[in-house]
Parts: sequence; C-alpha cells; structure tokens
Amino acid sequence: MDVTVSGGSIVNQQVDTVVVEVGDGQRRLTGAAAQIDAALDGAIADMLRSGFFAGRAGEVVTLLTRGALPAARVVVHGIGGATARTEDGFRNRAGNLGRALRGLNAGRVATSTQAASDAIGGEGAARAWTEGLILGLYRFDKHHTSAADRPRGTVSAVTLIEATGTRLAAARRGLETGTALAEGTNLARDLGNEPANLMTPTHMAERAQALAEASGLDCTIIERAEAERLGMGSYLSVANGSVQPPKFIVLRHRGGGRARPLALVGKGITFDTGGISLKPGAGMERMKGDMTGAAAMLGAMQAIARLQPATNVLGIAPCTENMPSGSATKPGDVVYAMDGQSIEILNTDAEGRLVLADGLGYARREGASALVDIATLTGAMNVALGNVRIGTFTNNDRLHAEVERASAVSGERIWRMPMDAEYGDLIKSDVADVKNTGGAPAGSITAAKFLEKFAHDTPWVHMDIAAVMDSDRDTGVLVKGNTGRPVRTLVHLALGRARG
Ligand code: BES
Ligand code: MN
Ligand code: ZN
Repeated sequence: MDVTVSGGSIVNQQVDTVVVEVGDGQRRLTGAAAQIDAALDGAIADMLRSGFFAGRAGEVVTLLTRGALPAARVVVHGIGGATARTEDGFRNRAGNLGRALRGLNAGRVATSTQAASDAIGGEGAARAWTEGLILGLYRFDKHHTSAADRPRGTVSAVTLIEATGTRLAAARRGLETGTALAEGTNLARDLGNEPANLMTPTHMAERAQALAEASGLDCTIIERAEAERLGMGSYLSVANGSVQPPKFIVLRHRGGGRARPLALVGKGITFDTGGISLKPGAGMERMKGDMTGAAAMLGAMQAIARLQPATNVLGIAPCTENMPSGSATKPGDVVYAMDGQSIEILNTDAEGRLVLADGLGYARREGASALVDIATLTGAMNVALGNVRIGTFTNNDRLHAEVERASAVSGERIWRMPMDAEYGDLIKSDVADVKNTGGAPAGSITAAKFLEKFAHDTPWVHMDIAAVMDSDRDTGVLVKGNTGRPVRTLVHLALGRARG
C-alpha cells in the first residue's frame, strides 16, 4: 500500500473511495467536506441535520455517489471536538480508518487532510496520516497458506490531498518521515511476530546484513569466538545452553563525521525459556518476542538510514536463545562481563540484563557518548504501568529529557521510574560484584540498577518494553501482535540530535 501527497481538489480525484472529515457538532460544512457535500446535493448536511451522523471521533459512514463524483463512494469520517485534534489523535484515527476502509474494500482512496492540517500544520498532518495508515493496515499473515484466512478487502493506495498550496512542501516532508517511521516499525513487528524457529540469532544477523546492504549502513556480526576474545562472558553465559550460535549484531549509521555516536542497544533473546530456572509452560510462546528490543533497534536503523540525520548512530543487538541443557549456565555460577565486573547468576531467567551488560560494555568501548537500551526486561513492568506507558530509567536528566521530547512527538508514551541508591542494595552479592536478581520487590528497578553499573558514567536511558511489546487487539496504530514500540521514538531521538 502506497501513500502519496498531492495538491488539488478533492472532488475530481480519479479513485474508488473519497474520505472527508467532519467535526463533532459541526453545523456548517467547510472546505473539502463542503465541496463533496455540494457535489452530493447536500447529502452530508442532511445526515448531520437528521442526527444520523454526529462527527464523533472515529465515526464512519459510507455514501454512494451514484455518478455525482468520479469515485463510487464517499466515506465521511468523524474527527471529534478540538481536544481530539492532536497529532496522536489523527494518527490513531487514521489507523482505525485504514482498517475500516479495508473492510469496505475501498481500493484506491483519496482523503482530505485539511482538518489535520488546519489543527497541526501540513507536515504533522501528513506525517500522522501516513504513519496511521501504514501502521494500522499492518498485518502478519505470511504463514496462512489459505487466502480465506486473510482479510479480503484491500486498500491499494491512498492519496493525501493537501488543498493549501503553501503547505504542500511541508506535507511532502511529513509523508517522507512518516513512511520511514511506519515502515521501520513494521520491520520490527515482522521480526517480533516471526516464531522463534524462524527467527534464530542467525536469522536476525542475516536480516541485519540484508538491511545494511539495502540501506548503506555498516554491519558487523561478532561471532562466538570473537565475543570470547572480547571477554563477553556475561553475554556468552546465556548462550551456553543453546545449540543455536549466538550473534552479536553491530550496525553503524555515519552522518556525524568524527563525533562520538549515540548507541541503541537492543535485547535480542530470540526465545526465552528461562534456562535452568525454567519458566512455566503456560504462555511461554510469548517469549518469541523477547528480541523485540533488538528488532526495534533494527527498525529504527532502517528509518535512520532512509532519513539520513547528520549524526552518528551505533546499533547493537546481542542475540542468543536462553535454553536449558547439559551445557547451560546454573544458578550460583559466576561470570565476568567485558568491563571486568563479576556477576553471580542466581536466576538464569534474569538473562536480559546479562546480555545487555556486554551490549553496553561494547558500546562504551566503541566510544558512545550516550546509551539507550531497549529491552523486554521484566514482567514486573506490567504490574507497574501495564501496556500503556514504557518504563524509563536513567542516570542523566538531560538525555532523559531528549527521550521525553522524542516520545512526545511519536506518541509512544513513557514514564520515568525512580533509581534511588537503596534499590541497588538489593543486588549486592556475597560472592561477586553484583547478583543478577534482587527478588520480587521493585523487580523492574533492581534490573535497571544492575544495568546502571555497566553504563558507568556514560549518559544512559533504559527503556523496559516488556509490557508494551505486544497488543491483544487492533486499536489505533496498534495491530494485534507485536507493536514495534519504541521504533518511532528512537528515530525521533536521532533526528533531534542531528538538529542539535
Ligand atoms: N523476558 C523476560 C521478561 C518478560 C516477561 C518479557 C513477560 C515480556 C513479557 C525476562 O527475561 C524475565 O524472565 N524476567 C524475569 C526476571 C526475574 C527472574 C528476576 C521476570 O520478570 O520474572
Ligand atoms: Mn528471562
Ligand atoms: Zn527475557
């Protein structure tokens, strides 16, 4: 499905379906809605007067044009009152509308972006519409071999009509950014939705290499032997139980000359059984998504390669399975991370922090000036914040403020969690520098306190995405399955850094 921007008038679009927007309680139609209403001999105005359609946010009604327009159908789309007219509001409504249009088998679609453009400007409007449509129409159905199991309708192309000539250039920018952001997110979703037998560390590495080749990024895969030479004993301890070779992915976007890079470090556990500290069987299939942090890094790097911000970005993903076996790490084992710190492994199911310790260590060795890690780290995140906000943890107010600004633009909401020193007391070990679990209390925070020790004095933000990695239903930009959060926030972070 292609989204494009065009100037001109909504009434003479040669498409199958035209979409116009009407606000809540709007008495007089204006702009595109008024033009379409006139062509339809007042059908929309009649509908409003009769109370048959109120313009509530997300309301959708279909009218047949019966020859009055080149398009066979007009979809009238409610956008609610003034408070609903934010970028995130338009984006989520576009997601829902996209699926509604698919249900109607809308074919080629033209829509007026006028209401959004009036409320938030041409660039934001085109970006929100593009993201919403591409994200909302995402589906993962490649393993359904029967067409009957796939949605039947199609939305083949959408033209966004920006009627205000002076906003057209801005709208084109918004389209380009929105397309890159949404396609990067959908790449992350594809990787996260793929079952673990088809998304092993080797598959992840192949996808990273293919991405680099297609987009001009640099890619290095660190194999087990090289990881041993680098002293990545923490990362490798997680791989001990698996027959799948571990792959440590390194991607580079060079847009900032010799400046030190921003590092994005994504947890890449392609399946988390818990290891010897085995998880219960019920629901374990969800753990195919335990590489969502790594997938988000890859999706963000794809978008960054397209948008070419003038800044350096280093993408890192330590990938491995976490399996029980005769060669697996045992509770009580002590391992050494590449920065020399010793770790007592009390629970082999707290493996994410172990691979990230060396992910952060490698990023620091590569001279990163800022570290952002993305990880499905703790089930406790679901207790604290549910699936609405990503929990963030930091050792640096300024870097966190940058992430907050990026999140405000993306609409992927975050919530900063506390990092008091006392939480660190819970992970003091009797036999090593640190232990890998502090027990049940404040489980997400003690995990973050563990990571903080490996960030040392480098500015660092940790994003625990365990509770937001998947969605149980279609809603707004989210589609049931992997959400691809927080790809768009990571990209906005890089774009913001390039602007300075
Ligand atoms: N991958 C899990 C966390 C997780 C849980 C992600 C649910 C997504 C959904 C992580 O590796 C894990 O097992 N964490 C343990 C830590 C504990 C052993 C200290 C947890 O949260 O129970
Ligand atoms: Mn685990
Ligand atoms: Zn895990």
